[in-house]
Amino acid sequence: MTQHDQAAAGSSVPSRAARERALLAGRLADPALLDQAVEIQLGEDGSADTCLAVPVGGQRMAGNVTVAGAGQALRVLQALHGKSGFPCLRESCFAKSLDSPRVVRWGLSGSVKDDHGELDARLWGYNEAGVGEYVTEQKWRDPRVPVTPVLESMTSAPADGRVYDVLLGGQDHYLADRRLVESLTAQDRRTLEVAAAINRAHQPAVVKVFASRGIDQYLDLGCGLPVNNARPLDGAPSYAALHDLVSQYQDKARTVYVDRDTFIFAKARFRLEEDPRQPEWVSADIQYMEQVLNSGRVQLLLDWSRPIGVLLHDVLPWIRNGKTVAEAMAILREKLPPGSAVSITHATNFGEDNVMSRFTKRFRKAGLDFKPRSTRAIGELFGDWPLEEPGLVPTHRWHPEHPHAARPLHDAGALAGLAFKPEAARA
Ligand SMILES: C[S@@+](CC[C@H](N)C(=O)[O-])C[C@H]1O[C@@H](n2cnc3c(N)ncnc32)[C@H](O)[C@@H]1O
Repeated sequence: MTQHDQAAAGSSVPSRAARERALLAGRLADPALLDQAVEIQLGEDGSADTCLAVPVGGQRMAGNVTVAGAGQALRVLQALHGKSGFPCLRESCFAKSLDSPRVVRWGLSGSVKDDHGELDARLWGYNEAGVGEYVTEQKWRDPRVPVTPVLESMTSAPADGRVYDVLLGGQDHYLADRRLVESLTAQDRRTLEVAAAINRAHQPAVVKVFASRGIDQYLDLGCGLPVNNARPLDGAPSYAALHDLVSQYQDKARTVYVDRDTFIFAKARFRLEEDPRQPEWVSADIQYMEQVLNSGRVQLLLDWSRPIGVLLHDVLPWIRNGKTVAEAMAILREKLPPGSAVSITHATNFGEDNVMSRFTKRFRKAGLDFKPRSTRAIGELFGDWPLEEPGLVPTHRWHPEHPHAARPLHDAGALAGLAFKPEAARA
């Protein structure tokens, strides 16, 4: 009898873990794994039931535990994080409520895609020599399952992150994305290429300010491809990924990337999984801001008692509904600890010179919900947090070190602003 069995035998009603243990012992092809199983208390006060997490090893390639809500998922993630036998921990939930059932998974599962998003293989929780009853085909599209509903990335329709990659001169996109850009006039294409380059080159200045105020945790919402092979404009320095920039200031800084595009997600996984700075990424839609921030995974990856630097660079214009954006931002401002900061870049209409309205129509026709906003609407996204100098200005004028600072004002096609959460702030 193992230590766990003895503990379970002491009470008259067997715990959920003891029941699972008994069930699994008779079914696992490699029952020795049960001795390394982790028993997790699911209730905050230790009164509620426990669950049993069995590591991978032997013939077992993956595992999962279903729990009652975000709080329990967090406890499971905390209990298993960093333990050998529980690699690639992830959490999934496809309902909006925080109390909806959540599944925490580990090990190989889901479909494995190659670098072009093509299906390579499907993997199962147990291989065929394992336990019949537990062989379930994983239906998820990628191995780190989203914490909110996300759209499946389609190769036949353009997507904002991939169109942005075309504009930056990268190679991580599909024909549909390239076709959309090619359908623009040469002049419009150039306008967008310049705007994209200005936006992409803004990150270093933001990180410098965040780091100078001691921030060592970064949350990049709508991150796009953190690493790409894009060509900077006019010989500007090559684009560094956020976690690289951050590590120039703090060795142990944590970067969490969030994007709703499963294509971006698959690429990030391939490129970052082995990165020594261990950036993390979460597949989620920030329109569900409350759920994203309360998800066990995001709670686990960041320390919510200390300041967090949040980047929202060129992501909010891709959410058309102003009310949704305002609500998401209010939730974000409320949840962030004091001393945190938010940096936003947002498309705006500079009038005739900038032709944003033409792009809006063109993008919407292609199925992309593009919505430039007024200076006032963008300013309101910061709530009552005071804007850092120089306020809300064209992105390349926010910091004198911007490589394209000498370009005309309207070239940015967007405004940039950054604000810190005051100690006693309202949302
Ligand atoms: C134009 S790219 C900007 C990428 C990056 N932030 C930058 O500034 O270089 C916009 C990114 O936001 C992501 N995105 C758009 N709407 C989103 C949403 N509701 N939730 C999460 N990501 C979103 C897209 O998938 C895309 O990767």
